[in-house]
Amino acid sequence: MKKTILLTTLTLTLATSLFAQPNMQTGDGAKENFPKDSKGKELFKQKCVACHILGKPIEMSKLVAPPLNGIMRHLKMNYSDKDKAVAFIKDYAINPSPSKAICMPKKIKHFGLMPSQKGAVTPKELEKIATWMFDNYPKKGFHGMGHGHGMNR
Ligand code: HEC
Repeated sequence: MKKTILLTTLTLTLATSLFAQPNMQTGDGAKENFPKDSKGKELFKQKCVACHILGKPIEMSKLVAPPLNGIMRHLKMNYSDKDKAVAFIKDYAINPSPSKAICMPKKIKHFGLMPSQKGAVTPKELEKIATWMFDNYPKKGFHGMGHGHGMNR
């Protein structure tokens, strides 16, 4: 009986130290082990979602910018390489310009050019946001505006 308790305590201690480790690295070196998913999403929600919605638009007329699904679909058609796509997003968010845009010219005409997010988001935050965008969008089943079904996330 005593042995079991000891073992349990030992296992718990071990588990705690294992789980605690990633949290201890909060500096620059943590990039590799970073839980990209949650942090990137969180940052996107803080910095980008006000304009770029995550789901399917209920009313097109209420949109102020292309939804994330649409952006990533076009982006991946132009940059299938993750590094290039991430670099593009990082650059575009700070220095948007019609000559760089991969979205249809119609989009810029309709929404206006994206305002630079310089000052609102750091390059490091953008890295996480862009990585998360690439890894998670477009959502499966998205085939362009008006054709998607049930992408409410
Ligand atoms: C104030 C509204 C606004 C915010 C905030 C905003 N965007 Fe945009 N974004 C736009 C608009 C409008 C467009 C479409 C016109 C264009 O492409 O410039 C766009 C387009 C884009 C595009 C596609 C560019 C292309 O090739 O046409 C990317 C990528 C993008 N945004 C990323 C981001 C990221 C990342 C953030 C958050 C850091 C962000 N945006 C925040 C308004 C916004």
